[in-house]
Amino acid sequence: MGNNLNMGINVEAGFATRAIHKGYEPLDSNGAVCPPVYLSSTYAFPTAQTGGARFEGTEQGFIYGRLGSPTTQLLETRLASLEGAEASLVTASGMGAITSLLWTLLSPGDEILVDETVYGCTFSFLHHGLGKFGVKVRHVDMMCPPCFEKMIGPNTKGIYFETPANPNMRVVDIEAITSITNRRGLWSVVDGTYTTPYLQRPIELGATFVVHSATKYLSGHGDLLAGVVSGPKEQLDEVRMCGLKDMTGAVLSGFDAHLLLRGIKTLELRMDRHCSSALRIARTLAKHSPGLLSRARRKSIL
Ligand SMILES: Cc1ncc(COP(=O)(O)O)c(C=O)c1O
Repeated sequence: MGNNLNMGINVEAGFATRAIHKGYEPLDSNGAVCPPVYLSSTYAFPTAQTGGARFEGTEQGFIYGRLGSPTTQLLETRLASLEGAEASLVTASGMGAITSLLWTLLSPGDEILVDETVYGCTFSFLHHGLGKFGVKVRHVDMMCPPCFEKMIGPNTKGIYFETPANPNMRVVDIEAITSITNRRGLWSVVDGTYTTPYLQRPIELGATFVVHSATKYLSGHGDLLAGVVSGPKEQLDEVRMCGLKDMTGAVLSGFDAHLLLRGIKTLELRMDRHCSSALRIARTLAKHSPGLLSRARRKSIL
């Protein structure tokens, strides 16, 4: 099964198959079906000239663990494929992904518009981290696209929202919001932690970047912390070289990259089960609260 997974016909493999095989050819690694785990912090060069070319960026190849390894690179290829993104960048935590991205995109004097609900540590970073360095953060109701558009100002560079949001599960219409940001020349970041790319792919709906706390459903086993940001390759190269390498240093370890590669192999199965269990629980609870049941039926949830 080759890297393109085209299997001789011009059709991309399905989600679950890509989650298991994308980007890895066992015959290139002695036939090992489980990809090798690279733990090396530093890489040797065949010649000093090769080393020089890699540092200059004129030749591809590994240099130092803070810039990536074959294990994190494979994980990034696989996640980008699942997300429908040009590229992905993995980090040591979800906060590592969010901070590496936003430190790279924003400068003093810029403004970012943020939905009314975001995860607590993201809120702290926006106000105590970005705010301390002269970035203005304004909260707007992203559930109301026309209200949101009115809040865009001359210094607004981009927007950030979670959907569904932590902790109150607000749902933002990604297409309605990104049709405005794309028309107004702003970038958009969607935190899709709750859904994973199995249930929602914001880039396909117009978003510029997607971030995840891979610590949660992507990993699925509660045994690691990790993050991922996906988006256009050119901008992610900058996030890797600036936000991740120099500003946060939030680099994912080879062991955790390996565990995450293992976790996402069962993502489709686990998410299907989460959904059917959640629906069963909701139906059971609704029986105890007829008002809830009729409200849910009106919204076509149950
Ligand atoms: C929606 C959301 N985004 C980001 C994060 C941060 O992720 P991490 O804990 O992996 O740094 C969390 C953590 O709970 C979260 O729920």
